[in-house]
Amino acid sequence: MNNPIRKWLQKNIEFKTFKEFLDKNNLSLEGKVVLDAGCGSGYSTKLIQEFSPAELIGFDIMPSQIEKAKQAYPELNFFVGSVLETHLDSDKFDAVFVFGILHHIPQWKDAITELYRVLKSGGVLLVEDLNKDASHFFATYFKLDHPPEAYFTWDEFTNHLEETGFDILEQKRIISKGVGSFLCLKN
Ligand SMILES: C[S@@+](CC[C@H](N)C(=O)[O-])C[C@H]1O[C@@H](n2cnc3c(N)ncnc32)[C@H](O)[C@@H]1O
Repeated sequence: MNNPIRKWLQKNIEFKTFKEFLDKNNLSLEGKVVLDAGCGSGYSTKLIQEFSPAELIGFDIMPSQIEKAKQAYPELNFFVGSVLETHLDSDKFDAVFVFGILHHIPQWKDAITELYRVLKSGGVLLVEDLNKDASHFFATYFKLDHPPEAYFTWDEFTNHLEETGFDILEQKRIISKGVGSFLCLKN
């Protein structure tokens, strides 16, 4: 997505919440290895660059989005790929960001498993997404294409994070609790 409202929300609400989570837990990403999964046209990846990581990679399944990202931010590193099979090394990343992609993916549980695999032990997953009610609302009233098989409740979501092996360090729900942000640690 590449519209000004989406960018404003991403910078002033979603990214700000992640920054607060990191600060509260005394976590710095300076000099670290960071991934932006489902980066769309790359705006989130540009925001993450503020943390001064040593290595930062963004990817998305849509070649047209990655083309836009490369044009807008030629200094950053992007590739076309799926969160279900990233082909990235295991235990590579200190932090993985996920801005609003899992409600598009019927196999969202497999996506979380794959992101767990690529994180180092002690690394963190920062994930922001919509629950079943919010996905249904946006699909119905804004005609956005969210497959019903990808809908999840917050209980299903947090249970799966913990079953995968994550400790949930922080969580925040906004907009009638339909949008959630989470900071999760891979032990
Ligand atoms: C709502 S957009 C969010 C884009 C961006 N993260 C943002 O917050 O603006 C959902 C994104 O998920 C991507 N996506 C969907 N399925 C994916 C998959 N299996 N692997 C990687 N990206 C995927 C889409 O191509 C799209 O760019």
